[in-house]
Amino acid sequence: ETCTPIFTDPKTKSYLDEASIILRSHKNCIGFPTETVYGLGASSLNDESVKSIYIAKNRPLDNPLITHVASLSQLHRKILPPSTKIPDIYLPLIKKFWPGPLTILLPVEDDTTLSRLTTAGQDTFAVRIPNHPVARALIAISDEPLAAPSANASTRPSPTLAEHVYHDLQGRIPLIIDGGPSNVGLESSVVNGLTNPPMLLRPGGISLKQIQEVGHGWEDIVTAKKTANASEPVRTPGMKYKHYSPTAKVILFVKCGNGVKAVQEALSRYPNSKIALLTGSEFEIPETLQAQFAIVDHLGSSITEMAHNLFAKLRNLDKNDMDYIFIEGVPDAGEGLALMNRLSKAAHETISNDSK
Ligand code: TXA
Ligand code: MG
Repeated sequence: ETCTPIFTDPKTKSYLDEASIILRSHKNCIGFPTETVYGLGASSLNDESVKSIYIAKNRPLDNPLITHVASLSQLHRKILPPSTKIPDIYLPLIKKFWPGPLTILLPVEDDTTLSRLTTAGQDTFAVRIPNHPVARALIAISDEPLAAPSANASTRPSPTLAEHVYHDLQGRIPLIIDGGPSNVGLESSVVNGLTNPPMLLRPGGISLKQIQEVGHGWEDIVTAKKTANASEPVRTPGMKYKHYSPTAKVILFVKCGNGVKAVQEALSRYPNSKIALLTGSEFEIPETLQAQFAIVDHLGSSITEMAHNLFAKLRNLDKNDMDYIFIEGVPDAGEGLALMNRLSKAAHETISNDSK
């Protein structure tokens, strides 16, 4: 339950010590790796440090942040009032998925140690234990719970490599820790077990099915509605904000079989444009048709692989100045929910054989 990092490489320890000094000064945020995407982290316990996150990524102040802790004991010691119990509903979920890509909402007390800027006026706060050794070591060594959104500039695809963070935030933050590529590639799932039935606020690294299988009330989980009025407070993550947009316009293909007909039709609508094609597992595009694209790339052969690659591939295509990116989607259910959630938000237009 506790997290005591042991280092075989003394340099790693000295880098994390350097990062800890910055985090404890409560003035700045830094880039750090997690298993989902890179985070932009600062102490959750101080207004000035949390403000530095909103400023660095130009994030609207009414979109609350996830707090990252290294262990359950740290959560109790630094955030929860003495002798507080985590609501029973969460216990089987925590047991199964922490550390990992699952974020839960807990009630926020009137005299909370958390900076109120992390909750953006909600009566709950979001928390998870990341499953990346560098993230957990950093949080344990600094002994600061870290508020951390994805470390992209607002509206850009989330970063899954340290160089993505550098690209978006260079000159705005003092340090980025490189922990290699993020394994999952999409953000954590966010659930609220304080409502009846419990709600999935954002699909992510743990699938709806995995959550339902836990039982103990989670079999009844419902998915939050996808749209919000601009004047509503943000109850559901990301509902009202534009997200994950590369500069090129994304055209998303769903239920288009082998893709030949749909892709051909769409191509004919954009003459004289630089178009990239990102395929999944169903498309079988003949070479003559492929030749009409500036770039053809394979996103992945499974949903897991597609999720892992998506944000990095979108960023790479942006470097190549595409006008349009055609992407093969997946069924918008089960394992595909999180990937389709991100793809739909990135999409300028969706082409579906259903709509004909
Ligand atoms: O995988 C992740 O979750 C990554 C890594 C860095 O951990 N972080 C991340 O943070 O995606 P961010 O800020 O990009 O997304 C957090 C989401 C937001 O959409 C926010 O609306 C929601 O969580 N959220 C945070 N606190 C909330 C609360 N009290 N009630 C409802 N939603 C909340
Ligand atoms: Mg984000």
